[in-house]
Amino acid sequence: MSEAIQTLAVDIGGSGIKVMVLDEQGNPLSERDRIDTPLVPTPEAVLDVVQQLAGNKTFDRVSVGFPGVVRCGITETAVNLHPDWIGFDLANALIKQLGKPVRAANDADIQGLGAIAGGGVELVVTLGTGFGSAMFLNGRLIPNLELGHHPFRKGETYEQQLGRAALDEAGKRRWNSRLERAIDQLEYTFSYDSLYLGGGNTKKIEFILPANVKIVPNVTGLLGGIALWRD
Ligand code: BGC
Repeated sequence: MSEAIQTLAVDIGGSGIKVMVLDEQGNPLSERDRIDTPLVPTPEAVLDVVQQLAGNKTFDRVSVGFPGVVRCGITETAVNLHPDWIGFDLANALIKQLGKPVRAANDADIQGLGAIAGGGVELVVTLGTGFGSAMFLNGRLIPNLELGHHPFRKGETYEQQLGRAALDEAGKRRWNSRLERAIDQLEYTFSYDSLYLGGGNTKKIEFILPANVKIVPNVTGLLGGIALWRD
């Protein structure tokens, strides 16, 4: 009998880089390890951190979530990282570095793949350094939604009003009232069946969420990595 395949799930974030090893069903086989994102987060600096985190782990393949548009393994935007990521071949760089097959996708898309139930219209929003978004119809992803950079209110985007910098600047109370309005607006825009909220700043939410809105745990951002290997 062949050995079970182990997947290294990597989540590159604006403030932390996280990894975890998953079994074929997507269950964790290791702790979730984290190192702060380098202050100057160039591809080289970030890949060095991934190397450090992967160094002591055994795995057969790699799934990586990236905070920007990812197409065919190439990172096309990187608002909260470094301009050197634009046009960078992330998947091939990691194949060379780690010597294993690699699949790469947007971080919110991966979080969504780990969160959704697979029926109807499901929207996923991640509240971290940036504002991530992912949309699914009957479990099928529409990749690279990038709602975060669309206008929300007062001439600002969702990310400018609800990202980490906005939370620090406006404070928890104003951020919560903005988030409540954003949820209303998103429901009008998409008439989703379910909305999932992920990311570290969900712990700052202080209002009662509508019945079709759920908070998903942080680890979902890694667990969804297994879905990239479902063909
Ligand atoms: C990026 C998205 C990403 C989100 C969360 C945004 O600034 O444009 O691609 O999903 O941040 O990391």
